[in-house]
Formats: sequence, structure tokens, C-alpha cells
Amino acid sequence: MAHSMGIVMVLSLLALAPLCFCGKTSGGGYLYPQFYDHSCPKAQEIVKYVVAKAVAEDPRMGASLLRLHFHDCFVKGCDASILLDSSKSIISEKRAIPNRNSARGFEVIDEIKHALEKECPQTVSCADIMALAARDSTVLTGGPNWKVPLGRRDSIGASVSGSNNDIPAPNNTFQTILTKFKRQGLDIVDLVALSGSHTIGNARCTSFRQRLYNQSGNGQPDYTLDQSYAAHLRTRCPKSGGDQNLFFLDYVSPVKFDNSYFKNLMAYKGLLSSDQILFTNNAISRELVKKYAYNQELFFEQFAKSMIKMGNISPLTGYKGEIRKNCRKVNAY
Ligand code: HEM
Repeated sequence: MAHSMGIVMVLSLLALAPLCFCGKTSGGGYLYPQFYDHSCPKAQEIVKYVVAKAVAEDPRMGASLLRLHFHDCFVKGCDASILLDSSKSIISEKRAIPNRNSARGFEVIDEIKHALEKECPQTVSCADIMALAARDSTVLTGGPNWKVPLGRRDSIGASVSGSNNDIPAPNNTFQTILTKFKRQGLDIVDLVALSGSHTIGNARCTSFRQRLYNQSGNGQPDYTLDQSYAAHLRTRCPKSGGDQNLFFLDYVSPVKFDNSYFKNLMAYKGLLSSDQILFTNNAISRELVKKYAYNQELFFEQFAKSMIKMGNISPLTGYKGEIRKNCRKVNAY
């Protein structure tokens, strides 16, 4: 009886397989949420525990961990290339313009990896740790939950030029940003939903100064930035100096994952040019911004879907790559 029940179970699982949220990734491999269920059953619990501790100590850390996964996935796929330090054979992506003096959270990933190596040595990849940490950070700050497809492996190389070219810059045009997303298999809906990450976290003065003083080379501020908000920002982001001064991306609720980012855009109070243009430069993205500003549920639902899609960018699976012992360096053979 138990045997035939088992066969029925297997058959029905096979029949349902195409409906599974795992999905074939652009890299050709399969990722699925149960990947570590047998090899490291406590993996997800351990990641959540360390992330929760880190966010409790530093409320900005959730934002930083979410961004790390994005900066990883847009360069050679979600393969933990961003975590590698410079060495004889590697020039670290940490030096690239989008990451230098900006990307953070590496020590938290180290702590998670250390705990996982103790629990189940060389089993859980650094790339999967980042995907889980991004999800946990979203949930901990009040955002949506989702099952993270797993089974990524870690790269044995990094790409500084990839970081510089493939990660969108805050002063890129709408078309350039959309093109950079499309190159990764992401569309305009993903662009708007994922930009909603800027509902948490900080940006440095240097990332938006141009908007305050000389947006288009004529010595005038960006006219799509609310002028009293601009005046307020200028007090701590002067024409020169103060490059590293920090500002909330969402001044209304800076550590809460909600839809106020989209409401800010409708009030011309987006901090980065790349944020505001979603409302001002394209009719389709403008409608999406309005939709998410009016309905947080819709934003949350799409955010979860788009995060899974982003997490599926060209992962290394099967025999490709390796499971690093230390996320900062490739294994020595
Ligand atoms: C659409 C193109 C995007 C551009 C141009 C962009 C640009 C930026 C910039 C310039 C900063 C501030 C960095 C600094 O000044 O140090 C930032 C912060 C941040 N970004 Fe984006 N971003 C984009 C999309 C995304 C996506 C897709 C995600 C996540 C899925 C994301 C998550 C974050 C988070 C959470 C922060 C705050 C990090 C912290 O406080 O440590 N961004 N982004």
C-alpha cells in the first residue's frame, strides 16, 4: 500500500513538474527551493538567524544585503562573483564604480558562510546565501515573502568591466537602464518593481549631486525634483565636498519595505534620477509606478516574482563552478 502510494506521489509530482516555480534558468540549469532539504536542512534557518541579528544591530543592513544580490546577478549571473577579494588571479568587483565605497554587507555574508561551513561543510554556495539573505532582508523590513529557488554554484572568477558596464548607473537614461535590464532577460515590469527596493536604504551625495546643481549641463537643477526637497538635500550635499554623506532613498519610511517609494515618485521626490525617470520619462513605467503607489499588494506580488526572475540569471549549476569554502576566495586545489 505504502509502496503504491509512493509511486502515485512520484507520478503526480512528475505531472506537476512544469508548474513548479523552479523554472529553467537562462543558464540552462534548474534551481529549486528544496535543494538543501537533505544535504543541509538547517541552511535556511541559519541564514535567517544571522541576517536577523545583523539587521537588528544595523537597520540599514537589510538594504545592503538586498543590493548585493542585485549587483551579483547583473554581472556574469548570480554566481557570488561580487564576493571575491582581489588576489593573484582576480581583480575584485568590489573596486568597480558601482561598488566602490558603496557595496556593503560582506562581513554578514562571511558570518553566514562560517556558520554554514560548521553545519554542513562545502555544501551551501555563497551565491545561494546571497539570494536567501536578500529574501530574508525583504521580509525582515516588512516586505513580501517568497520561496527562493536554490542550487546555484560559485564562480571561479570576477569581472570588474562587467560591473562597470552591466550595472545601471543613477544618471543613465531610461532607455539605457531598460536596455541593461533587457540584456539580463528582465522587462519593464521587473525594472519598476525591482526599483521599488529603493524603499529602503541609503545613497551617497555623489550619486545624485548632479540633479541638485547642474542636471543637463546648463547650471540648473533637475526640474523633475521637487524644489523644496532639492533645497533640503543641498544643505548636506554641497556643490563640492561631502561626497560620502548619506541620504535615505525613501525619506518617508527609510527602513520599512513598503510602497512609499512609488508615492514619492508621484510627488517628484525620488532621490536618484534613475528613480524619478520611471515616473517622468516613459508612459508604461509611469502607469506601473501609479499602480504600485495605489496598491501595495500588487507591488509586493510583482516584487517577489521579479526577485525570483532576477535570481535565475545565468546561475552555475551541476558541475560548473564550485562551492567556495570562503566566499572571499576561490578554493585552492
Ligand atoms: C534600476 C536601476 C538601478 C540603479 C541606477 C540603482 C542605483 C543605486 C544607487 C546609485 C544607490 C546608492 C549607492 C550609493 O550612493 O552608495 C543604490 C542603492 C540601493 N539599491 Fe539600487 N539601483 C538600481 C536598481 C536596484 C535594484 C534592482 C535593486 C534590488 C533588487 C536595488 C537595491 C538597492 C538598495 C537596497 C540600495 C540601498 C543600499 C544600502 O543602503 O546599502 N537597486 N542603488
